[in-house]
Amino acid sequence: MTAPQKKLIALLPGDGIGKDVLAEGKRLLELYRDKRGMPLDLWELDLGADRYLKDGTTFPKETAERIRTEASAVLLGALGDPRVPGLEHARDILFGLRFGLDLYANVRPVKALDDRLVPLKGRTAKDVDLVVFRENTEGIYVGMGGQFKRGTPDEIAINEDLNTRKGVERLIRAGFEYAKAHGKKTVHMADKSNAMKHAHELWYRCFFEVAKEYPGIEPKHVYVDALCLYLVQDPLPFEVVVTCNLFGDIVTDLGAALQGGLGMAGSANVHAADPGRVAMFEPVHGSAPPLAGKDLANPMATFLTVGMMLSHLGFAGEEARIEAVCARAIAEKKCTRDVGGELGTRAVADHLLAELARAF
Ligand code: NAD
Ligand code: IPM
Ligand code: MN
Repeated sequence: MTAPQKKLIALLPGDGIGKDVLAEGKRLLELYRDKRGMPLDLWELDLGADRYLKDGTTFPKETAERIRTEASAVLLGALGDPRVPGLEHARDILFGLRFGLDLYANVRPVKALDDRLVPLKGRTAKDVDLVVFRENTEGIYVGMGGQFKRGTPDEIAINEDLNTRKGVERLIRAGFEYAKAHGKKTVHMADKSNAMKHAHELWYRCFFEVAKEYPGIEPKHVYVDALCLYLVQDPLPFEVVVTCNLFGDIVTDLGAALQGGLGMAGSANVHAADPGRVAMFEPVHGSAPPLAGKDLANPMATFLTVGMMLSHLGFAGEEARIEAVCARAIAEKKCTRDVGGELGTRAVADHLLAELARAF
């Protein structure tokens, strides 16, 4: 019998609390490797603001190539450092991964693990359970555009919003495929087709065309401004939301608030049509500079993200196990301050790791 092939996991802590939470994410993967015998090889990348300020490196071609050809997954902390106000290293790394690996579906579950975490009057955790599929390789994020007459009274700044039929269609299809696989009855598509008559007319038309391939699933259109209203009034009817890159970014911070904050929101960046490809996993939150290095960051978003990674790698069941352990810790107030506890980052991770180890 041959030993199972090892899966290479690249760890990219990045900046600020990215380092704090990835230290705990690494311990979680080490637990699975050492106590569960998962065939994982961990490869830590020294990339981020420190490295950029030291030698100008952002995201080397060789690293990108090794990730593409050898790694099974990347676990990213966060990028963004006040010492690099232009965020050039952050864009090179983050977009280098998302665009470079063609990870067109940014899958962001919005699920509350405890009634106490839901900030809406009269609502409980069962009201908050949806998944946002954010287009991740196009839109306003492509960086097309420019500045003209910069610094003069006549200056002009342009960012183009790029939408391709293929790009829009594959993301919408990923949302429907997820709905089908998970027994969901509806998919909402959020756009601004009333104002963006070119780009979002494409989204609107494409959405209803793709929907015809999924007869059991009701396609529902919603303008993104109204979606923000409805999510705060009553998130229950929403199961799957597909949307463009920028709106997905904004809506999922609102979604994170419904889950108890950014410390509770995990995400996956995948090439949904070819799940065998290397994928990238990251908490939704950023580098939160005021919390960095102070043992204050909530590590649960990273734990939940690792759960998504393990599912993706074929270790079925671990995502639910990690989620259950986090939910219990929240219920018992063994959590960080942002979610009503008093523990630090390390102590919460210690507790979650001990609970998981007990279940093995
Ligand atoms: P942020 O997500 O870092 O923080 C927003 C708020 O959420 C803050 O109040 C912060 O304290 C809180 N928060 C975030 N994560 C938390 C955690 N794990 N535990 C407890 N509280 C948490 O967003 P920001 O302040 O707008 O951005 C800071 C930097 O991060 C910026 O440079 C931004 O560009 C970058 N950023 C990076 C990513 C990424 O790498 N994927 C994502 C978002 C923002
Ligand atoms: C996120 C972040 C990034 C984004 C930033 C840091 C460019 O907000 O991952 O949600 O807008 O995608
Ligand atoms: Mn964001």
